[in-house]
Order: sequence, then structure tokens, then C-alpha cells
Amino acid sequence: MITLSRVTKKFGPVTAAAEVSLKVAPGEIFGLVGPDGAGKTTVIRMLTGVLAPSSGTLSILGADEPEKVKDQLGYVPQKFSLYGDLTVMENIRVIGMLYGRKQPEIDALASEILGFTKLLPFKDRLADNLSGGMKQKLALAAGLMHRPRIYFLDEPTTGVDPVSRREFWQMLYRLNKAGTTVFVSTPYMDEAELCTRVAFMHGGRIVSCDTPEGLRRSYPYKVLELAAAARNIKALLAGCRLRDVNIFGEKYHLVVDDAAAAKEAVLEALAAAAVPVASLTEVAPTLEDVFVALASEVV
Ligand SMILES: Nc1ncnc2c1ncn2[C@@H]1O[C@H](COP(=O)(O)OP(=O)(O)OP(=O)(O)O)[C@@H](O)[C@H]1O
Ligand SMILES: [Mg+2]
Repeated sequence: MITLSRVTKKFGPVTAAAEVSLKVAPGEIFGLVGPDGAGKTTVIRMLTGVLAPSSGTLSILGADEPEKVKDQLGYVPQKFSLYGDLTVMENIRVIGMLYGRKQPEIDALASEILGFTKLLPFKDRLADNLSGGMKQKLALAAGLMHRPRIYFLDEPTTGVDPVSRREFWQMLYRLNKAGTTVFVSTPYMDEAELCTRVAFMHGGRIVSCDTPEGLRRSYPYKVLELAAAARNIKALLAGCRLRDVNIFGEKYHLVVDDAAAAKEAVLEALAAAAVPVASLTEVAPTLEDVFVALASEVV
């Protein structure tokens, strides 16, 4: 459905996407995951025909240029702007008209889509007066006026609260069940878990691409989760032969080869420094652990 072969995009001296190769099958929720500046938007722009690649080839819905199949592609850009002084319904209608739909069709489709996105109770509210989460839903709703076969969403939930994020993803799932292939970018690892497959991007490159389960399985280390009240944990554990120490919320993830040996060494080091340990247990690696390892090229 989508194939990218060694696609590169350069902006002067900056290589925003470097030899990106990936395939997306029909029915997937494909996630492009990576930090700020990784190249996610650049890849989505090339797939939606906004930017032309500097080199490499792409194929989408059988076409070699997105422009040729654009009536089948939906795209919610990262900085999607709504008409703040129009209501929810008016925004949807305007987008419908921009897509060249006729009035009766627009009204029927708008009601259906606002129902689907649970925005119907807010249809007469000005877009400016919507919460951040609802604005994102309206952006998603607007793109659906197109009835896309492939729907590209560029960081649709960035800056949205966790409850709205969950609702947004429930909508993506329903849309996907109804037959739409979804291609979504996100900086959030918990959202990466929700994708059928994930491509991790870093510095313009895809550093790994697999199912969330496959990515976790390929992780070659063990992870110890440590809860201890000390600021200089890295220094205190310098002699413990840890591969890495990462902050995870209020805890630390210690990346090690041998969990039992490392646990003993860490407890000993912290006891010697008189640091009380609330807990220290081996945990299954999260996608964040996997990504941190890939990004720092530990793997
Ligand atoms: N039009 C442009 N001109 C010059 N450099 C650009 C342009 N667009 C992107 N870049 C650069 O390319 C790199 C990748 O940017 P891109 O916007 O694709 O990343 P991203 O993963 O979408 O980041 P974010 O999470 O911040 O949206 C960055 O270094 C960025 O500064
Ligand atoms: Mg971006």
C-alpha cells in the first residue's frame, strides 16, 4: 500500500530524512515514532505529496507520486489550523466544500462524522472555544470529509491531556476497523504500543521497524527498576557495571546484562552510600527502553 525505498530529503546542508525504507500494508495502524527533529513530518510530507524526495523512490496506492492518488489520502498536518471564528459544524462544512463535495452530501457526511467523533453535542460551538483535545478531534473529523483510504496524522495528540489522548486513539481504532489504513506520527511511547507496527526514527534515519512485541523481544538487555531518593544515582552506581541509567518518571531504569549480579552490586553500592532503596526489581523492557537503547546506539 505504501513503499518507501531509500528515500532521502535534504534541506541545504540538513538531511531531514536519510535513506528511509519502509512498507505499510493495508489495514495497518503504522506508527512513526521519534523525538523532535527526527524527521517524522518530513516523511509524512513526502508521502502526502507536499514535498518531493531529494532521492529514492516511493509508491503509494500503486502510484509513484502521491499527487496522483491524493483524492484517496487524508492528511492532518502537525499544525492544523481551524477557522476559530466558525462553529464546529461550519468548519466541517467548509472543509467538505474544499474537497468539492455537494451540499446535501456534506450535511449527511458531517452529521455522521460528528457523531463518530462525538462532537455532535458541540456542533454549534466556535472552534476557538474548544479544548485542545476537542480541537484535535475536529481536525481528525475535518480530514474524514474526504473519506480517505489512507489517513496520515502528524502528531495528532501532542499537548493533549491523557484522557483525550485515549479517546482520540479509540477513534483511530474504530476508523481503522472500518477499513482505513492509518499512518500516524507521535513522540509518545505509550502510543507506539497501540500501533500494529512501529518505525523508530532518529536523526532522519529509521533505526528499527517492527511490531511493538517484536521490538521488545529484540531488546538484548535486562532492565532493573530502581526507586531510591538520591539525585546523583549515576555517580553512586558508577562501579556497578551498568550499561545505562535512565530516568523513568520518579524511578530509574538500569540497563544491565545480568540482572541478579547487577542487583546485588547496586544494593551494595547504595547501602555503602547510606541511600535507602524503596524498591529494586527486574521489569520487562518498555518500548521507551528499547528506543533509548536504539537511539544511543547501545544496540
Ligand atoms: N523546510 C525545512 N527547511 C530546513 N530544514 C528543515 C525543514 N523542514 C525540516 N527541517 C529540518 O529537518 C529535520 C527534521 O525535521 P522534521 O520536522 O521532519 O522532524 P519531526 O520529527 O517532525 O520533529 P517534531 O517532532 O519537532 O515535529 C530537523 O532538523 C528540521 O530542522
Ligand atoms: Mg513534526
